[in-house]
Amino acid sequence: MKNDNIVTEVTEGVQRIEIRRPEKKNALTVGMYAAMADALLQAETDRDVRVILFHGQADIFTSGNDIGDFLQNPANSEDSPVFQFLRALMHAKKPILAAVTGRAIGIGTTMLLHCDYVVAGESASFSLPFVNLALVPEAGSSLLLPLVVGQKRASELLLFGDKISAAEACDIGLINSVVADVDVGSHALAKARILAAKPRAALLATKSLLKRAIVPLVESAMIEEAHEFSDRLSSPEAKEVLSAFLEKRRPDAARLD
Ligand code: COA
Repeated sequence: MKNDNIVTEVTEGVQRIEIRRPEKKNALTVGMYAAMADALLQAETDRDVRVILFHGQADIFTSGNDIGDFLQNPANSEDSPVFQFLRALMHAKKPILAAVTGRAIGIGTTMLLHCDYVVAGESASFSLPFVNLALVPEAGSSLLLPLVVGQKRASELLLFGDKISAAEACDIGLINSVVADVDVGSHALAKARILAAKPRAALLATKSLLKRAIVPLVESAMIEEAHEFSDRLSSPEAKEVLSAFLEKRRPDAARLD
């Protein structure tokens, strides 16, 4: 499933998946999720691929789900492209890296919880504005985020939805390292190549062991989140907040209760 906004390429064992829709801040559409799911599934069976690397462009990783799509193409079944993407990410056997430059919003941050190594530029930032959009967390983040950053931090990030800097994200363990903005790409590629050169079976077995206990729990969290997400998405308050974004106005506070 090809999509012009998802650019993939395999070199020296590294499958690059670039999110490239800069005119919309790399907002992710149904077609983009389908293309990323396909790329992940193909990578599983391609012996030339040893590791996977997600990235955006210098000033944006992704602004999260396309807000127009939330209204027009809501994910309402387990076969929806977004769930196919999330399942492929959760079950990926090969190591996944992400290079974050600019903002990582919503699923742009929650997808990082499934990555094995994340580097960000100094000016990158991370936010989970689900509640602000009258939505709930997804991608298993209601389970994974507290495990990764602790309950208090997870509550703060998910209830307030404020953005945090790359330095803070690194401090709390959401990402692995922070480098100068201009060095993000080369750092990520160097790390990817180091992993690509490791003994193949040991690398895969180690990733599998690391995920063994948690994957079934994440799977069930994702299903519960998806039911709640779908209910919230069809609520009048979500419709108001999402429409307000598209119409470039403030939501009507009277319609948020
Ligand atoms: N869905 C759909 N369109 C989006 C988008 C998204 N998630 N994020 C940005 N865009 C679009 C804008 O509507 C705008 O389109 P236009 O040029 O046709 O008007 C274009 O991308 C540029 O965005 P703009 O808001 O003008 O850029 P900015 O630099 O002022 O702000 C963001 C960038 C990412 C901070 C801001 O666009 C934003 O908050 N986006 C929504 C993030 C979000 O809530 N995502 C959902 C998470 S669950």
